[in-house]
Amino acid sequence: MAKGKKVTVIGTGNFGSTVAFILAMNGTCHNVILRGRNYDVTKGKALDMSQAANAARQHTIVKAAKGPEDMAESDVVVITAGAPRTPGMSRDDLLTMNAGIVKMYAKEIKEYAPDSVVIVVSNPLDVMTYVALKYTEFPRERVLGMAGILDAARMAHFIYEKLEYGAGQIRATVMGGHGDTMVPLPKFTTVAGVPIEDLLDSEEIGEIVQKTRNGGAEIVNLLGNGSAYYAPAKSTTVMVDAILKDTNQIHSCAIMLKDDYGYSDIVSGVPVMIGAGGAEEVINMTLKNLQVKKFKNSVASVQEMVDKLHELKFFDDLV
Ligand code: 2OP
Repeated sequence: MAKGKKVTVIGTGNFGSTVAFILAMNGTCHNVILRGRNYDVTKGKALDMSQAANAARQHTIVKAAKGPEDMAESDVVVITAGAPRTPGMSRDDLLTMNAGIVKMYAKEIKEYAPDSVVIVVSNPLDVMTYVALKYTEFPRERVLGMAGILDAARMAHFIYEKLEYGAGQIRATVMGGHGDTMVPLPKFTTVAGVPIEDLLDSEEIGEIVQKTRNGGAEIVNLLGNGSAYYAPAKSTTVMVDAILKDTNQIHSCAIMLKDDYGYSDIVSGVPVMIGAGGAEEVINMTLKNLQVKKFKNSVASVQEMVDKLHELKFFDDLV
């Protein structure tokens, strides 16, 4: 029997569960493996989703993993594991806590799913992508962080709120790290091809940029317990879809830079062309002065966290 496409989702909190659910509802792959800490709970969720897939007349089967070996032959592994943000906590506060968790799973992926493309969504996103890359030892095109699609979706929503038209037609662009220094790019943002600068004034655009940067924190504060998951999960499945269907479409994703935009050995969000092999190409856009400065600032904030991990001797077990 043909193997069919297989996706492992690590972490069964709201984010991981919603990723698995969307994959099942869309029939994106044949098998979804859910890896959670509590086997019974994970199995319950997997059964529920498999039954939902039947209701949706989809072929996707969701199963709970008994151990890391169940990740074998995954085409894609999504790492959602880690503590979410709580009110008042920045993504960066999660640094040391989540770096250890991502390191552990990256080593397991290296052993059990060595041919997979890894999508990291744990925060702080860019640093966790860096950690996953170092510990899987995969080529950079097979370790991506999900953030640009989410941040652009948030920006598109805030543009819609101002305009009250164009929903679904807004193409926003956000680069840089998934943190307070992210770089929304109004100059590369259109509504059905119309530049937003022709539709909104600079004060309104400034507000949209600020709201986009604060988009995750706004939801954290409203929920009071945990962070957003519907838009993050949907954005993740856009990447899974692009990989499994080999779409060769451009999305903004976090990736290890290698002489891109003037940086190397640091992860940041940039446009990449996604296909079956992961990020098959990094797209280098021409940035103007202020954009260059903001991107530099964003890269520096990720570098600072990587340096912090170095100071804590986090990477000392790397050979
Ligand atoms: C967010 O921005 C989960 O980091 C994610 O909501």
